Amino acid sequence: MSIKAENRLHFGVPIFEASLPALESRREELVTTLLQMRDTDSQGIARSNQRGWHSQDALHKSEEPILKWLTDQIYQLGSQLIRHSEGLPADSSILLGSLWANVNDFGAWNAPHAHLPCEWSGVLYIDVNEDPQEKENGIAPGDLMFFDPVPVGAPYRKSSTVSYTPKNGTLFLFPGYLMHMVAPHYDDKPRISMAFNFRLGDVLNSFAR
Ligand SMILES: [Fe+2]
Repeated sequence: MSIKAENRLHFGVPIFEASLPALESRREELVTTLLQMRDTDSQGIARSNQRGWHSQDALHKSEEPILKWLTDQIYQLGSQLIRHSEGLPADSSILLGSLWANVNDFGAWNAPHAHLPCEWSGVLYIDVNEDPQEKENGIAPGDLMFFDPVPVGAPYRKSSTVSYTPKNGTLFLFPGYLMHMVAPHYDDKPRISMAFNFRLGDVLNSFAR
């Protein structure tokens, strides 16, 4: 897979932004599948989600063809970026450890959190408001916000947060230690994203037993 990605490198931390153009033709099918999934498992699970729905976190093991396809797309893109960032050989072991869906209705948000001990984490936007009208002090509803791990701000460093307004088909990949949150979403149409964690096989195998 040939990919185009930008390394945003905020706070000296790699934050990759890439796009998955193949998603567009299958987006509608995916939205239908995920909303049906929410209907059958309306409780979901509780993580950083506040009022939002968080699916079970092993969707990478689903037999649903659209989810198998998406898992493969995320794995190809994510593993290539991780190998590039860490200078790992092509045969290094990279595992997709979890994959889940987030559906945020009006007023839902995700509290600040990190994804340790997973080495790399990410998000892929499936159905979001790409052009929110309201923006307060540089932050729009539904923005993804990252926090500087050394949040001292001025005069030592730049602003201690950075926020991104999501676009459908955009994928962000970042180290699992990086704190982030999702700003409240104020739209009647649900905001749908997929999130995932990667593990490095070589790290997993290096623990003393
Ligand atoms: Fe997260």
